[in-house]
Amino acid sequence: MSYIKTASQIEHIRVSCKIATDILQRVLAHAKEGVTTLELDTLAQKLCTENKVEPSFKGYLKYPHATCISVNEEVVHGLPGPRVLKKGDIVGIDFGVIYRGYYSDVARTIPVGAVSIEADKLMVVTKTALRKAIEQVKPGQTVGDIGHAVQTYVEAADMGVVRDLVGHGVGTAVHEPPAIPNYGKPGTGVQLVPGMVIALEPMVTLGHHNVVLMDDGWTFKTKDGSLAAHFEDTMVVTERGHEVLTSF
Ligand code: MF3
Ligand code: CO
Repeated sequence: MSYIKTASQIEHIRVSCKIATDILQRVLAHAKEGVTTLELDTLAQKLCTENKVEPSFKGYLKYPHATCISVNEEVVHGLPGPRVLKKGDIVGIDFGVIYRGYYSDVARTIPVGAVSIEADKLMVVTKTALRKAIEQVKPGQTVGDIGHAVQTYVEAADMGVVRDLVGHGVGTAVHEPPAIPNYGKPGTGVQLVPGMVIALEPMVTLGHHNVVLMDDGWTFKTKDGSLAAHFEDTMVVTERGHEVLTSF
């Protein structure tokens, strides 16, 4: 299985993840009322240049920006632009870098000022869903175990789990096998093996889980217009379990 990484590859991916996480934290800190999503993207690009890394999404399938910024009913792959963030918005920022050929992937959703109780609950449930997914990560567990853990937790909270987009292997490309859905049956699918590097990324909605692609060709939003949140971490499967490389 070519997607098992060597210790030296993992060392590079660890650095890539550290740089991406540091940059994402700084960009998130600027995601305030009155700021445009393009300004946030420009900041991410500038920090990449300062850190001598490339933003990994830019140019991937001709994606034109350093970050994906998805607001409110936008689920993922939102295009930075002139949209001004306002109080009550929730904003998901997804980001990764290429450091000496090695890729990282990390996303968080945060509130802009005070948000509704429902929006708060959505972010807590999505963040917890990512934790439930990560708890499944150890040798012998399967991709289906991860999906099942996310799905049962989220659906018990009466929220929707997006199906059309999935987590994935990462490290020497933006997306590598295996695909890791956020729903599934225990014991099914690819088994986790030490040395695999994966990005887990539950996308959760307050309404139905269906998503639609917008006319810009990139942004996915909820079909029913309900709010959505997205959290993502990159991790390596270890002999004993896992090591999250993008935690903060
Ligand atoms: N982090 C995103 C994902 O895993 C990758 C976005 S690539 C882009 O889906 F081209 F859509 F930006
Ligand atoms: Co990803």
